[in-house]
Amino acid sequence: MKQDMIIILDLGNAENTTIARAIRALGVYSEIYPHDITKEELAALSNVKGIIINGGPNNIVDGEKIDVGPWVYEAGCPVLAVDHPQANCEKLDKWPEAEAEQESALKGFILETCRAEKNWNMKNFVADQVELIKQQVGDKKVLLALSGGVDSSVVAALLIKAIGKQLVCVHVNHGLMRKGESESVIEVFQNQLDANLIYVDATDRFLSKLENVADPEKKRKIIGTEFIRVFEEEARKLEGIDFLAQGTIYPDIVESGTKTAKVVKSHHNVGGLPDDLQFELVEPVRQLFKDEVRACGLELGLPHDMVFRQPFPGPGLGVRCLGAITRERLEAVRESDAILREEFAKAGLDKKVWQYFTVVPDFKSVGVKDNARSFEYPVILRAINTIDAMTASIEQIEWPILLKITDRILAEVKNVNRVCYDISPKPCATIEWE
Ligand code: XMP
Repeated sequence: MKQDMIIILDLGNAENTTIARAIRALGVYSEIYPHDITKEELAALSNVKGIIINGGPNNIVDGEKIDVGPWVYEAGCPVLAVDHPQANCEKLDKWPEAEAEQESALKGFILETCRAEKNWNMKNFVADQVELIKQQVGDKKVLLALSGGVDSSVVAALLIKAIGKQLVCVHVNHGLMRKGESESVIEVFQNQLDANLIYVDATDRFLSKLENVADPEKKRKIIGTEFIRVFEEEARKLEGIDFLAQGTIYPDIVESGTKTAKVVKSHHNVGGLPDDLQFELVEPVRQLFKDEVRACGLELGLPHDMVFRQPFPGPGLGVRCLGAITRERLEAVRESDAILREEFAKAGLDKKVWQYFTVVPDFKSVGVKDNARSFEYPVILRAINTIDAMTASIEQIEWPILLKITDRILAEVKNVNRVCYDISPKPCATIEWE
């Protein structure tokens, strides 16, 4: 490992993740471990320059006060205990609330007491991971479901750098991708990075399974199940695969601000592959926060658009083509979404707005086109801002931009005669329409 590390032992402090992020912001790598880390587990960690015992009011579990083992104090590096009075070490009653005070407390402990080096950066992270992947995988093969999303793309790029063609990427196009998305996966990974990429165009298969299915939950289920089936079929055709790579990231792993005893959630394995197809996991970005995953992608030379891609639901345009999906309306969603994205990029809104897309419902309205009556679909625009997707407010798009998008959709997208802007916040609405 090239990086010095400060470890945080979780004793029920709600701020584990915030502190880990603040330490990383100082340029020093930090990881969170459960309070009951064993002597052996602790000894197996390399480059630990300091330990923070992060106590708090939640340190009673099942009626008993939890504590760290005595070996934590004998690990040979400085220890800082927060709200943990017995400790024979540096102490802090609680984290200061003001950011500047918190930073100065952390700086004092990490940079002066522990003398940790500020060597947490993406260049070192990539170098470390390349080594670790090589050690873990050896000359074996690794399989990855490459959706084109940020996490799987960064994992693919890291693995290609580490093991080249020993990585087999499978990109399943379920026919519900945004315009140009599968093409960009092929361009970047096959043409530019020379990856071992299997491209499966399963559009017809998905659309025929979805025919006449209007219920949103049934649609989601069909798309999810079918996705696993297609991936499984491809995996069975391959020989000698021992590992499965996953784009698990830190927020998937850390349960922040909860009881303490279980810091690490049990992994939900890659969406239910059958028992005879279980592989050992490779998860090279499991310690990264989302913004760090993006920085890693840039370090690896992935295109800006791929790295800063807005969130896109697994069922793709399937939940934006409302009711029973038809090819006609799916095309209207895809084309209008492409126009919205293009105009947002021109106006700089792509850097500001969290998520933006179009929706096409399954009803028509009357309009007039070329001096004749038309009976066609509306396109609904949606653009929202949020921190955690639990609540959301709309972006107040300026009228000239809205009008430009409307003009273009009405002129360029077939079977559409009306454009509406959804100004509902979440709640009462949700972000998606299905
Ligand atoms: P809602 O519509 O629930 O969306 O307000 C919250 C966020 O989750 C995304 N979303 C999904 N993501 N599979 C996913 O991977 C899904 O089935 C799904 N449904 C919604 C949505 O795009 C938004 O960012």
